[in-house]
Amino acid sequence: PQTSKFFENPLGITVRYKMSKNICFIDGLEGILKYRDIDINQLVDLPYDAVSYLLILGDLPGDQELAEYSACLHGEREVNREVIDVIHMCNFNIDSIEALRTIVSFISQFDPDINDSSPEGNMRKAIRLIAKIPTIVATYYRIANGKEPVPPDPSLSHGANFLYMLRGKKPSQLEAEIMEKDFILSAEHELNASTFSSRVTASTLSDLYSAVISGLCTLKGPLHGGARAEVTAMIEEIAYPENAESYVLDKLSKKEKIMGFGHRVYKTYDPRGTIFKQLAKQLAEAKGDMHWYNIAEVVENTVIRELVEKKGKPIYPNVDFYSGVIYKYMDIPPQLATSIFAIGRVSGWIAHCFDQYEKKKVIRPRAFMLDEC
Ligand code: CMC
Repeated sequence: PQTSKFFENPLGITVRYKMSKNICFIDGLEGILKYRDIDINQLVDLPYDAVSYLLILGDLPGDQELAEYSACLHGEREVNREVIDVIHMCNFNIDSIEALRTIVSFISQFDPDINDSSPEGNMRKAIRLIAKIPTIVATYYRIANGKEPVPPDPSLSHGANFLYMLRGKKPSQLEAEIMEKDFILSAEHELNASTFSSRVTASTLSDLYSAVISGLCTLKGPLHGGARAEVTAMIEEIAYPENAESYVLDKLSKKEKIMGFGHRVYKTYDPRGTIFKQLAKQLAEAKGDMHWYNIAEVVENTVIRELVEKKGKPIYPNVDFYSGVIYKYMDIPPQLATSIFAIGRVSGWIAHCFDQYEKKKVIRPRAFMLDEC
């Protein structure tokens, strides 16, 4: 990768914005995923802030840079009274992603940098988006459940703070670690549908909020980020491990898809799915309750047997399967699952938008290219 420019960030951090084609690398046959040339199995043990910095600025931060970046995020986490008032007016009977995109659009109108397209202005907007989206999701959830919003705690990590704002009490160390890893595993995945949407919007030199809202709208669909919510709902519907095999067989006989399986790029195990499976098992063991995990394993074994072994189709668990199981253990309702995906993914969208802004070229495919999708 080539270093394109250095700039002083007026939020107080000196950052280097690195132009790179290698924001993400996927080998779908070998099941390899890298962000900025670093394997996901290494990245998953870092703080989310470090991975967010890596994606957006091109290199892993040093200790000082990480402290400054995290301090910038902490400084921008709170949302004001008007945002809380608008959340009160949202519809709590539908998926939280609807409220999230509405609120992101609402706050964009009051961002003093909305039309500052300089790298510094874009970086300030990026930090606000990454910092505020978890607060919006947690605040929405609390208000929807008749509870007072919980202000962010600057002593906590991105993941721990989100769970704290959601529940009003600090999570266990394991839950905090798993939430942090969830955000990292969800942070980036090359030209997936939502990132492509964000890039298209950025390619017109529209502002960063608009590009992120495009990503949110696209992430919502059940064939993309919406699958996670459907996995949690599916596990609930199956209810007992002994129901799982017949549930899968019934769906497959009706040619219905099993949510959380299959991928356009991976034709083997999705490395994020493998990490999520280990985390789901760890969480189930720590809680002394293997129930939901056992259901998931029967679903997985049945899909592998029926589709991979019998039919030779490369349909393996994807990023959404065991993460959906984890949400069940963490009491995260399906209505929040896609928004939580967005909390992690926003860093990836922004990394791609910055890359696109540097290109100054509109994305304008021809219609015949759709035949290949
Ligand atoms: N369950 C059962 N069969 C499946 C599944 C599944 N989850 N996924 C694909 N297939 C079958 C499909 O029926 C088709 O069979 P046939 O060739 O006999 O018609 C074949 O596999 C190819 O399917 P496709 O839909 O053409 O494959 P695709 O590469 O276009 O789609 C996908 C990829 C992710 C949209 C698809 O696998 C799917 O719909 N999965 C379920 C939804 C899901 O979990 N989405 C999350 C995707 S990963 C995270 C993300 O990108 O956001």
